[in-house]
Amino acid sequence: MKILMVCLGNICRSPLAEGILQAKAAAAGLDWEIDSAGTNGYHVGEAPHRLSQKVALHNGIDISLQRARRFRAADFEEFDLIYAMAEDVVEEMKSISRQQFDGSKVDLLMNELHPGQNLDVPDPWYGTEPGYHEVYAMLAAACDKLIEKHQ
Ligand code: 4NP
Repeated sequence: MKILMVCLGNICRSPLAEGILQAKAAAAGLDWEIDSAGTNGYHVGEAPHRLSQKVALHNGIDISLQRARRFRAADFEEFDLIYAMAEDVVEEMKSISRQQFDGSKVDLLMNELHPGQNLDVPDPWYGTEPGYHEVYAMLAAACDKLIEKHQ
């Protein structure tokens, strides 16, 4: 299975989601391919935010080799499931992919943890380190549910 995690910049939330799900899938013996992307192009080619890297490493996950890329319409051909970190991200995905947008492949990641509640993962970009820990905990809990569902 191929799963894509999407946020706005692909430097704070979705790189963490990619790293966490990769680690959990590997630990569960699942042969999944995980990637991440951002809907804006502001940080293309950059490594994850230093606080995302720090919080990931604090939890035993190295995301330092990831590089930001922009979400593209062709991602709908390549991936089986596409998880958005927030509702505004879904709207941006729609405007990028237009007719290729396939709602059957898209959900908010937090709906894995709190089905039907349509909760956003808060953007930690303007905040401080505790915000990144909070985001990590939310992503880890949602990824646990996702793994459980497929085991
Ligand atoms: P992310 O956070 O979507 O979690 O990667 C952001 C990072 C950068 C920007 C927005 C959100 N930005 O506009 O530069």
